[in-house]
Amino acid sequence: MTSPENYHQSALAKAIVSAESVQEEYFLSTTGAQRGALLRKWNDLIIANRNDIAIILSLENGKPYAEALGEVLYAASFVSWFAEEAPRAYGHTIPSATPNTILSDVREPVGVCGIITPWNFPAAMITRKVAPAFGAGCTVVIKPPSETPYTCAILAKLAVEAGFPPKSIQVCPTKDRQAASELATNPLVKKISFTGSTGVGKILARLAAGTLKKVSLELGGNAPLIVFDDANLDVTIEGVMTSKFRCSGQTCVCANRIYVQRGIEKEFVQRLVQAVSRLKYGAGLDSTTTQGPLVNRSAVDKVASHISDAVSKGAQVEIGGEAPKGEGYFFPPTVLSSVPTNAIVTIDETFGPLAAICAFDTEDEVVKLANATEFGLAGYLFSENIGRCHRVAARMQVGMVAVNTGKVSATEAPFGGVKASGYGREGSVYGMEEYQVIKAITVGNIHR
Ligand code: SIN
Repeated sequence: MTSPENYHQSALAKAIVSAESVQEEYFLSTTGAQRGALLRKWNDLIIANRNDIAIILSLENGKPYAEALGEVLYAASFVSWFAEEAPRAYGHTIPSATPNTILSDVREPVGVCGIITPWNFPAAMITRKVAPAFGAGCTVVIKPPSETPYTCAILAKLAVEAGFPPKSIQVCPTKDRQAASELATNPLVKKISFTGSTGVGKILARLAAGTLKKVSLELGGNAPLIVFDDANLDVTIEGVMTSKFRCSGQTCVCANRIYVQRGIEKEFVQRLVQAVSRLKYGAGLDSTTTQGPLVNRSAVDKVASHISDAVSKGAQVEIGGEAPKGEGYFFPPTVLSSVPTNAIVTIDETFGPLAAICAFDTEDEVVKLANATEFGLAGYLFSENIGRCHRVAARMQVGMVAVNTGKVSATEAPFGGVKASGYGREGSVYGMEEYQVIKAITVGNIHR
């Protein structure tokens, strides 16, 4: 009999068997164009239900309703993107070196995919993985985050309504950490796609190596944002606000360290404080809220500890700085100036609404500071000097650079990191190949 401890493990194992049972039939009985048409219907259903999904998302995650609605549209955009990509899984004909031989390659689905997603984007991280998997012809077993399982359940229901076989999308909400291990070790699972911490990503990669699964990992970041003294400050402040305070600072691509060239530090801080003073934290469904709560108490404690460490090393609190008393995991948007480059906030991703500003003098110095981290997901730079923009973008050791904008994420842009931020690319023209394998077909003796 299944003991309570391994209940989830066995439920997950059953889900994997169920997904596997339709894998071959699903792929062999549909063309890319047909899967594209199903994705199009799924997209349409998400759009038709966007307001309800946004309410559920806001209630379970806490992000303001407008931001939740933006995320639902962002989530749908991956579905419509891969609806277009699914019919375009081109292979090659290859001139063979052997006489009388035709050589070609085709793209096939990798098989059952284990999808493990985070709570900060309960909708978009599901569709950014599942839509390309479906487009490629894979079935999926999803372990949604235990904090936000409902948005995932709704998306899966709509996928089935759109016409995907019920067994092709399995959702296993659980708090049991063994569930991810089951996905990473079960031999029927051929691919793991994970968004989350670098620590867990490394464990999953090690476990997945046992059965040589394909793996893509979108892991932690510690994004540098560089402001040169020739930057347009209106554009820069808007970019910093977008990059730093989206999802209350809880995204892997949020600016974590803001380096400002010394000559403009004072003016930059003043203008940023003005912009931050217009933010208002509160409940997600309150229409005046711009900043929702953090995910839990330890997230609040982490922001507080980054602030007290920086202040003990000489930083100044310009606005915010202390968690309010009472219920909820709120933290006021905070700006610290004169942050020394040895403060913990420059090393460890805060994942909260803390803008930590460090001054720098030269381009060389700031590039070294920006790259002095094990992480390499996103980086930002602001300058009106086109040569400098290209030079610094080329030197930043990250998977994504945004120049003169705080927006690095888009459906059509390859999303992913280098160094300890992981490997693999999501969205874009590359996203579907993460769920495909290439088969070479050699036809010999054709003139016999
Ligand atoms: C994240 O993974 O935290 C960022 C998601 C995005 O910007 O697409």
